[in-house]
Amino acid sequence: MSPTRYPRVMQALHWLTVLAVVLLFPVGYVMARIEFGSPLKTPLFRLHAFLGYAVLIMTVLRLYYKFRAPQPAPPAEVRGARLALYRLVHALLYVGLLLMGVSGLGVFVQSGVGLSPWVDPGALNFKVSAASSHLNFKFVLLALIGVHIVGVLSYQATKGDVLSRMGLGRGN
Ligand code: HEM
Ligand code: HEM
Repeated sequence: MSPTRYPRVMQALHWLTVLAVVLLFPVGYVMARIEFGSPLKTPLFRLHAFLGYAVLIMTVLRLYYKFRAPQPAPPAEVRGARLALYRLVHALLYVGLLLMGVSGLGVFVQSGVGLSPWVDPGALNFKVSAASSHLNFKFVLLALIGVHIVGVLSYQATKGDVLSRMGLGRGN
């Protein structure tokens, strides 16, 4: 029989990723808009790169556990077209997280500054192709996160407890 919840390690990685992504969006937005010379510019870029790398590493680890550890079957009431959407959105969330991380580090690589998060933003080239990919992927990731949250909350409100599968609440 398959387990009724995600393995603890996947629960922890899910919520740590949520926390990091919730910070990455405003930090990314602000760091890209404040002037060079502001005392916040460099620390925000470094924080962003550090959190972005953390998301990248956690996503790779999650995919490793997904294929190594027994996973819960989809929730009982998710069938037919809804099941296809559930699978598609979950797969695309992983792809979206990886693409954001890889395009972010691509900006560093294409700018020739190496991979260290201890970057000097003045040395980055924001005209490289990875930069425009990073800026475009963020909309895709945001849309996927929106669909995911609406799906989870609407299931929780109308069909049954899904949050406990990801470690929230005590479940049945
Ligand atoms: C899932 C992980 C990530 C998310 C969600 C994320 C999100 C964002 C967001 C929202 C922005 C601001 C875009 C705007 O100006 O509107 C941004 C910019 C940026 N991010 Fe990330 N990021 C991630 C990972 C990374 C990584 C790993 C790096 C580098 C190691 C990185 C480097 C950058 C750079 C250099 C910019 C400025 C790009 C520009 O202004 O052209 N990001 N990111
Ligand atoms: C940055 C935002 C988020 C991202 C990137 C994200 C990503 C993911 C991914 C990739 C999965 C699939 C896990 C798998 O099957 O391997 C998942 C599952 C799940 N997420 Fe999120 N999530 C986010 C926010 C949230 C929030 C805010 C909630 C709660 C309202 C939530 C609740 C859940 C639940 C309950 C599951 C398990 C669904 C099931 O039973 O199969 N997530 N999430």
